[in-house]
Amino acid sequence: MKKGSLLTSTSPTNDLLLEKIRLETVLNSLPIGVFIINKDGEFTHMNDIVYEIWGENAFSAKNVYDYRKYIAWWEASGKQLNEDDWAASRALKGESSYGEIIKIQSFDGKLKTILNSASPIYDFEGRIEGAVVVISDITEIKRTEQELQHHKNHLTKLVSEKTLELEKLNKKLQLEIEERDRLQSQIRHLDQLNLVGQMAAGLAHEIRNPMTTIKGFLQFLQNNKEFENSKDIFNLMVDEMDRINDIISEFLNLSKNKRINKKKCCLNDIVLSISPLIEKNFILSDHNFKLNLQPNIPFAFIDENEIKQLILNLVRNGREAMSKGKTLTISTYFTDDFITLAIQDEGTGIKKELIEEISKPFFTTKPNGTGLGLPICYSIVQRHNAKIECKSTSAGTIFYVKFKPTS
Ligand SMILES: Nc1ncnc2c1ncn2[C@@H]1O[C@H](COP(=O)(O)OP(=O)(O)OP(=O)(O)O)[C@@H](O)[C@H]1O
Ligand SMILES: [Mg+2]
Repeated sequence: MKKGSLLTSTSPTNDLLLEKIRLETVLNSLPIGVFIINKDGEFTHMNDIVYEIWGENAFSAKNVYDYRKYIAWWEASGKQLNEDDWAASRALKGESSYGEIIKIQSFDGKLKTILNSASPIYDFEGRIEGAVVVISDITEIKRTEQELQHHKNHLTKLVSEKTLELEKLNKKLQLEIEERDRLQSQIRHLDQLNLVGQMAAGLAHEIRNPMTTIKGFLQFLQNNKEFENSKDIFNLMVDEMDRINDIISEFLNLSKNKRINKKKCCLNDIVLSISPLIEKNFILSDHNFKLNLQPNIPFAFIDENEIKQLILNLVRNGREAMSKGKTLTISTYFTDDFITLAIQDEGTGIKKELIEEISKPFFTTKPNGTGLGLPICYSIVQRHNAKIECKSTSAGTIFYVKFKPTS
């Protein structure tokens, strides 16, 4: 078949010939491939684009039924088209198809993506007389589409990665802000404690001297026959003097500049050295006491006596918050570069609105409390450059004290 030519061999009248020339001109000026077949499947018309798509030898085949020469696959499933699948042959059976996408192997060996539509042509009596098939090469469009999709996927991935990164940074920032606020409020408390400690240090010297004198005279008079019947009163007075002395000593513990003696120690050893005393108190008060010490934790640079006092204060608070039969646990472990001491009780917990208050000097909810136990703990923690955190629910309270290991 000759490219771009009229294909019928009837003897047309001049009008008919002119009509065919017009049709041929129209077809060849279209930007898409168009071919027309008669009812026997023979090609009657085709324009240049069809040759461009299928290749120069495309229509060496006699008619559309010479399918073996044409190779194509459905784009969506990848399945090869068989005889009845071709839009042209379906059109000759009366079926119209629009915009079907197939992949073809052209006669010059190229793989292309084609948009295919076909429609039957009817004569005056409604009989199928042939079919018209329209094809366009969308290989480039498909490639661009794929590339765009690829870019879009890449961009979406990038955006979600960046969003995730930003979310993480935001969270980190939030945590840092919270930590800074917490530290600032701790510093404010510690400043208060420090002030109390400094005042106590100033007063202690002045008060202790006259107190020693008074206590000495009281003890002297206690042994005087004249006051033999008042021994109990004298004992009480001496005890009260001792109590005043103890309170002054506690105040001195609040000073930031208090001299301490830090040494390389194992926290577990300190806990073990005071646990018999704690256990005895717990048995007496009908409470349970448990140890959960991680072996081989690193050493910390600490003042043994101060840490003993810290543990005893926290343990006493825990015990005082628990009803009989409940358990207090002391744990130690090493994680995230910190040696942690955790003191967990099954007590009544601390109300949310009081959490900020408990570290302030003289805050107490107990009838005989002085409200100095926790402030002293906070001062000890400060002198050790450690951290103290408290988590409390109605099921109990945990105090975490975190020390840096010695390098
Ligand atoms: N483990 C805990 N469970 C519940 N409440 C607690 C706990 N630890 C502390 N508190 C609350 O914090 C307050 C302050 O504690 P802090 O140890 O400073 O003083 P205190 O125990 O009242 O008196 P003291 O000076 O005799 O220790 C307590 O009165 C109590 O209300
Ligand atoms: Mg206490």
